[in-house]
Amino acid sequence: MGPGDLSNLMKTIKYKKSARVLVGYEESDDCGVIDINGIKLLQTVDIITPIVNEPYIFGQIAATNALSDIYAMGGQPVSALNIACFPIDCLDINILREILEGGRSKIEEANLDIIGGHTITDKEIKYGLSVLGVSERKIFTNNSAKAYNDIILTKPIGGGILSTALKAELINVNHKNVMIEYMTRLNKYAISALDFECISTVTDVTGFGLLGHLYEIAKASKISIDLYYNSVPFMEGFFDYVSYGLIPAGSYRNREFVVKDVEGDNERILLLSTPETSGGLLIFCDNSRTDEVIKRLCDVGEKAVKIGETKPLKDKLIFIK
Ligand code: CO
Ligand code: CO
Repeated sequence: MGPGDLSNLMKTIKYKKSARVLVGYEESDDCGVIDINGIKLLQTVDIITPIVNEPYIFGQIAATNALSDIYAMGGQPVSALNIACFPIDCLDINILREILEGGRSKIEEANLDIIGGHTITDKEIKYGLSVLGVSERKIFTNNSAKAYNDIILTKPIGGGILSTALKAELINVNHKNVMIEYMTRLNKYAISALDFECISTVTDVTGFGLLGHLYEIAKASKISIDLYYNSVPFMEGFFDYVSYGLIPAGSYRNREFVVKDVEGDNERILLLSTPETSGGLLIFCDNSRTDEVIKRLCDVGEKAVKIGETKPLKDKLIFIK
């Protein structure tokens, strides 16, 4: 679903909110957070349709993606429920088994427990997790970025473009393998490399694209962002597939959502609006600590680069430079 449709819909339903809620759905944060007797519990759910043909790898990507929202809030995943939709009447159940096995491999790597799940017969395969996490530290909400933070991205963008090329059977196998490597890389390693003291906030880059997720932070934090286009890392092959016209429809919806608050070339706005699945983290850090943060991230194997910085609020939320 497009970001605009979703936030408009949610505005029309008035949920009651108890004092337990620390982070609700209002600012489109990665997880909801509630306080139970002083313990901060994080909760999120994410299910996706297949982006690769291999069921095991799809399961890995879906689980990595679902866990990411817990890491993006600075939390630690504790337990999860499997959620699967599967056309049991026309597909071999072993395909579902492989999907769940792929998920299991990431659950194990992330060190949490599966304590249940739910499966629905459906025409189209879908898989993901509902995840419960805890936090004893700072919670990274969308409204806590500060002016003069540097912005670091931990994975190159291009998941939406490359997976569209894969669906069209036009992808180069090396490009596909690199895409899978990024999509199955848990954001756990990036978050564990951070000294929370110098970090204002974090989010992950997923369906709304790089600009969509930057926009949500800028809007909630009431700051503006200078984004350096030439510093943004793109996956290898990205521009080839764009030149073949392999741009997923979600990119246009995403652009529509941000365009009035972004200053920059229209083509660049579109490319930076392409959706990601299981993308990297956007980390907002004290600008005096940037080099150290990037070094720590690179030491654990991230491809971390500075892509921009925050400024006091101006007439637009994002300026592409
Ligand atoms: Co998220
Ligand atoms: Co999510």
